[in-house]
Amino acid sequence: MKVLSLVNQKGGVAKTTTSIALADYFARHGKKTLLIDFDPQGSLTTSFGLADDADNPKALKFLALARGGSEAMPHKLAKNLYVITSDIGLEKANASLITKIGKERYLRRAVDELNKKEKFDYVILDSNPSFSQLTINVLYASDKVLVPFKPEFNSYKGIMQLFENIEELKALQPNLAVLGFVVTMARPVKSAEQAIAEITDFAKDQSCRVFTPAIRLAVACADAPSHQKSIYSYAPDSSVAHDYEMLGANVLEALEGI
Ligand SMILES: Nc1ncnc2c1ncn2[C@@H]1O[C@H](COP(=O)(O)OP(=O)(O)OP(=O)(O)O)[C@@H](O)[C@H]1O
Ligand SMILES: [Mg+2]
Repeated sequence: MKVLSLVNQKGGVAKTTTSIALADYFARHGKKTLLIDFDPQGSLTTSFGLADDADNPKALKFLALARGGSEAMPHKLAKNLYVITSDIGLEKANASLITKIGKERYLRRAVDELNKKEKFDYVILDSNPSFSQLTINVLYASDKVLVPFKPEFNSYKGIMQLFENIEELKALQPNLAVLGFVVTMARPVKSAEQAIAEITDFAKDQSCRVFTPAIRLAVACADAPSHQKSIYSYAPDSSVAHDYEMLGANVLEALEGI
């Protein structure tokens, strides 16, 4: 099992969209994949129409597995594709974890417990746009981090902070590494090209990569969640579905090579 997280404390950079597209790609290519919505906003959960499904254990209950808690079986979405949903209740964990010893380890322990039975090839963690106990749990649980980067004038600023936080966490979890950046919602404008150039230089300095292709801005991508579908099943012939297919192949190849 390898755990990949999508992290960027900046909101609306396509963490959730990219988590879904990659998990969908991995599952269609024979990898048993678990998607975990670890954001109290629950956008990933809503994207699959699972928000009101009381039968599914939410991320908060799933965390109880870390202490030998009750069964929390993920929901099966498709062949090879499973999901742990989330809702605002996860905010409780954010507050209560602060006082716990080993507070950063809960998510990883829960994932390891579940994996003993289910044997996943990949776990993909979608995270919330902030830097909280939840994010620290996501990073601690990760083998690799993928950073979605929306190329805009000020996008680069928050990335330095994220890398400093990751460096600090390496003291607790030395295996943690950034796999690379994914450029999302790319537009052919000068400010975007400048932002991509900045992040490409930064990635070189950090010995990580900027994955190709950049994901283009496309209306199909914004529409897919309201149809409760991944971009591939919603609009398989769209430019953005093609981008995500190629990205999926490149990210999977990078992960399989590790
Ligand atoms: N390539 C794209 N083209 C157009 N719209 C997109 C694209 N990728 C994502 N979107 C849309 O942009 C919005 C933000 O994307 P998403 O929810 O994936 O970002 P996020 O980083 O998970 O946000 P948050 O920080 O709130 O969790 C969503 O409405 C999504 O459908
Ligand atoms: Mg999100």
